[in-house]
Order: sequence, then structure tokens, then C-alpha cells
Amino acid sequence: MENYEVLPPSPGKHNMENYDEYCKNFTWENVEKEFSWNTTGKVNIAYEAIDRWVDEKGKGNAPAILYSDAEKEVTVTFADLKAQSAKFANVLTKLGIKKGDRVFLFIPRSPEMLISFAGIVKAGCIAGPLFEAFMEEAVKDRLTDSEAVAIVTTAGQKSRIKKDEVPSLKHVIVIGDQESNLAPYEISYEKVMAEASADFTPVWLTKDDPMFLLYTSGSTGKPKGVLHSHEIMVGMYHTMRISQDVQDDDVFWCTADPGWITGVSYSVWGPWLVGKATIIRGGRFSADDWYQTLEKYGVTVWYSAPTAFRMLAAAGDEAVKKYKLKLRHITSVGEPLNPEVIMWALRVFNVRIHETFFMTETGVNMICCYPSEPIKVGSMFKPIPGVEAAITDDEGKVLPPMQMGNLSLKKGWPGMMKEIWKNPAKYNEYFEHDPWYVSGDQAYMDEDGYIWFQGRNDDVIKTAGERVGPFEVESKLVEHPAVAEAGVIGKPDEVRGNIIKAFIALAPGYTWSEELGEELKKFVKTGLAAHAAPREIEVRDKLPKTRSGKIMRRVLKAQEMGLPIGDLSTMDD
Ligand code: WT7
Repeated sequence: MENYEVLPPSPGKHNMENYDEYCKNFTWENVEKEFSWNTTGKVNIAYEAIDRWVDEKGKGNAPAILYSDAEKEVTVTFADLKAQSAKFANVLTKLGIKKGDRVFLFIPRSPEMLISFAGIVKAGCIAGPLFEAFMEEAVKDRLTDSEAVAIVTTAGQKSRIKKDEVPSLKHVIVIGDQESNLAPYEISYEKVMAEASADFTPVWLTKDDPMFLLYTSGSTGKPKGVLHSHEIMVGMYHTMRISQDVQDDDVFWCTADPGWITGVSYSVWGPWLVGKATIIRGGRFSADDWYQTLEKYGVTVWYSAPTAFRMLAAAGDEAVKKYKLKLRHITSVGEPLNPEVIMWALRVFNVRIHETFFMTETGVNMICCYPSEPIKVGSMFKPIPGVEAAITDDEGKVLPPMQMGNLSLKKGWPGMMKEIWKNPAKYNEYFEHDPWYVSGDQAYMDEDGYIWFQGRNDDVIKTAGERVGPFEVESKLVEHPAVAEAGVIGKPDEVRGNIIKAFIALAPGYTWSEELGEELKKFVKTGLAAHAAPREIEVRDKLPKTRSGKIMRRVLKAQEMGLPIGDLSTMDD
């Protein structure tokens, strides 16, 4: 356990110069003073993140969105964003959509995605961002569970929305389509935006009123709707300053898609809350494209993920050399960073990569390495000022240093989820050991209070940093007539952290072939989502099951890894 390298603090000035000192004097009330609702009592994150820069701070001409892809470049200023989001809020209001209604976003990364997101929130509605790669069933499940009334989408994505199958869904607002292609219930985004007024007073709320609903996977059941409120702005602002260390002259790029929590908190709202542009790069990943993006905007603070760093490292040290980069702080999230990647970044950028651990449910960064503190390579350091972390046992008792247990956070920080949509029982499961929020991850704390991540303690899979529930993939596989049973696990992979591996038993009358394997992969890819499709499929005569008939994924996993299988007392024969 105790064999690691220590990297000295990053040079330069930081928003937090000394962790212990900062924690001593920290109060959330002081952070709240940064917001105008602290004195006016009028709460809406869209005001704090957008309108305020125009109305109170004279920053209307500053860029709020810097979008580019291979074909075009678009800059949206804070004044434009204020006007465009007001228009979209008016569009929704005119359709009779009210405070608290769910309006979904199913749009690839684009200025329109961010404008409509801002408009939904400004109108007091609950935004439901959907990852652009979701296919029919994934989209339908989320719209149905949330009883969404409207969705904003594009001509290219709209065929994956089956409006007839979602009774609550009344309006489909389509970006970039010809009038003649629109069904009677479809609305042209361009048309209604052109007609709408750019005046709209944000719908004033309380800080506990909901802002967005993001579905995430657990080890069982369908994805759950994690509900966040406007109060998350306090956590976003604080972590933009403390873990992302964003300062006045920084240029910040978070590479995450706005369909996931990192994108919502750090590609969209976090930058706006500190008066910065969000940089959005459309199109596919390539090392050259990303280095060009870093160079083009002069990015100084960069937030990305281990899989992306590993893919960049695989392009070779030489690939970086032709670019003039200004990076000074790099952060990472989603899965463990391996020491090789940290060493690669030190070598090619002369900058450390800082771990930031958090979850859809926690809303904002929770346990992070900070630029002012040494890094014990492999550790996540300590919780953000204002949050207490502990390692607890299965009864909720706090464990002493050097013992593995449940990574837990004392509940109540701003940004913590408010609800699991229509599922209080599920919500309560996280808080069974009051006052602890139990994350589902395992970790230990060393004698110095540094936290060392050890992996999930459930069957949730992290593949390329994305969270996939095995149950969803298994359910999809057994929909195929050739599959009688399926068990899905994460199999360790050098680049992606894990890949999805499915074990299946065939239905009577079917025989295994390469073609069937390919067909099954495609079946999941086109039915659910590309990132959820198994990369490997193995056929078994039958799968290990409990006596009550549940497939034992941990047995499949142990067998795959060549590890001891453990207690088999509940196994069927
Ligand atoms: C799970 C939550 C990608 C967006 C943020 C994650 C894992 C998160 C780290 C980290 C090791 C990490 C955990 C966590 N995770 N950050 N720095 N090191 N693992 O949100 O998709 O809800 O996933 O991601 O297992 O529980 P998410």
C-alpha cells in the first residue's frame, strides 16, 4: 500500500494556498455571498450565470460560448446568451410549459444545446440532458419515467424519439430541419426563436427548486433520475475556484459532454458562474484535434478524463511537441488515474494531473488533489473545504486509517442531489447510515488523511469514464431471441479502464457464431447506446445463479480475472 511517488505542489499562485488553513476559516455562507440572491432573495442560476454579467458587471461583450468543429466557429457573448435563452424561455412559456415541467435536451454538443438548456432553467423548468449517443429505448425510458412534456432535438436525432410511446410528451422542438419535414406536433426551433421576444425575467425560485434531472445507472434496475436544485450553483462556483483553481486570466476547457454530470457542472454552468466562456469542441476525438483546441484558445486549465489522457499518451510524446500550449493546471475525473498517465503529463506538459472524484449524485467535485498540495501519486487527497469524508463500515461506523471500507461523505453540501425522481426508497438507500452519504465506492484513508480509491463495491461498470448499469445491458441482450440468459461485467482494459464483457447462454435451437456475436453487439449498440455495447461476448452452457435465480456477476468476474470465487453458499448447485 505504501509505495508511491510524491510530487511537490504546482508552482504559482492558487485560489487556495493552504488546504488546512482554508478549511479552518471556510463557511458555505461566505461562498453564498458571491451571489446576488444573497441580498435580493431572487434565485435562478440562469440569472447568476448569465444575465448578471450583462446587467450588473458590464461583461455583455465577453464570450460565453466558444464553439468550434471542423466546419465552423461560433462565438456567443453573454449578451447574446442572455437574449437567446430569454427567447427560448418565452418559447416554452408560450407553449404553456410551466415551472417544474420536465423539458429534455437530446442534442449533440452545440451552441443550441447550451442556449436551450439555459432557457429551460430560466423559465423555471427542469432540464433533462440526454447523452447524444442514446438510442430509442434509452431515450424512451428517461422520457417516460420523468413524464417529460417537451424535448429539444435535431433533425439528425429526432427519429430516436418515439413520441407515441410517451403519453406525457406534447412537443418536439427540432433544430435544423426543413418545415416540410416536420410532423404536426414538431416545432421548428429556428422559426419559434425568430418570433420570440428577447425579454424575459427569470422565473424566481427558491434555491431548493429543481434545476435539472440526470439519469444514471446503478447495479440493478433501470437508470434512476438524479434531481438537482438551483443551490448546486454554490458548489459549482466553489469547486471552479478551489479544485479547478480557475482565476481571472485563465482559459478553462472541460472536455466532458453536457449529457453527463461533469459536462453539466463544468462544461456549461461552472464556467458561466465565474464569468468564463465555455469551450465546446464538436466532432470526434483525435489527439491532433484536441491539441489544436488547447493551442487555439490558449487553454490554461484543462479538465478531462483518464481514458482521454491515455489515448493522447498513446499518440506519443512527439505529437504534443508541435503545439504551443499554455497549460498550468490539469484535472481528471471519472475513473482512477494510473501513475503512468500522471508521469506522461509531467513529461510532456510539465504539469501534474489532479484527481477530482465525484458522482452524478454529489453534483460537484468532492475529493480532489489541489495545486497547492503535494500529490501522493495514486491518492485522491482530501474532500473540498466544506465537505467531510470518512471511510465507514457496513453499519455506518467510521473506520480508523488504513482500513478499507465505504467511501462516505457527510450529507448536506450544496450540490448534493435533492431526490431520486419518484423513488424515495432509492434515495434513502444512500442515506441509511445518517449522516453519511454512502457512495458505493471503496477506499481507505492513510495516516495523513489522504484517500485512496479502491474501486466500486457494486456491479456498476465504468467504461471510458462512463457509468453503465449491467442490468440495462443484460435486459437488452435477453430481448434478442438467441439469448436465454446474460450476465454483464466490466473487464479491466489498459485504455478504457474497463470494457463491457457479456456472458450469455443461448436459447434452444441457436448455435454460436462470429456473426451472431457481431449481431448481438449491434443489437445493444442500436437499441441502447454505443458506449453500453459489449466489446466481448462469451458463450456458456449456463450462467452461475443464486438459488433464487439471480445471475452472480461476481462469480463471472472472479472467473474472468482468475481470482478466488469466494462464498458460494447461495449458488444454485
Ligand atoms: C463514479 C461516479 C464522469 C463524471 C463524474 C462521475 C467513479 C469518479 C473518480 C476518480 C476514481 C472515480 C466512481 C464514482 N469516479 N471520479 N477521480 N477516481 N473513480 O460521475 O458517472 O456518476 O460516476 O465514477 O466509481 O462512484 P458518474
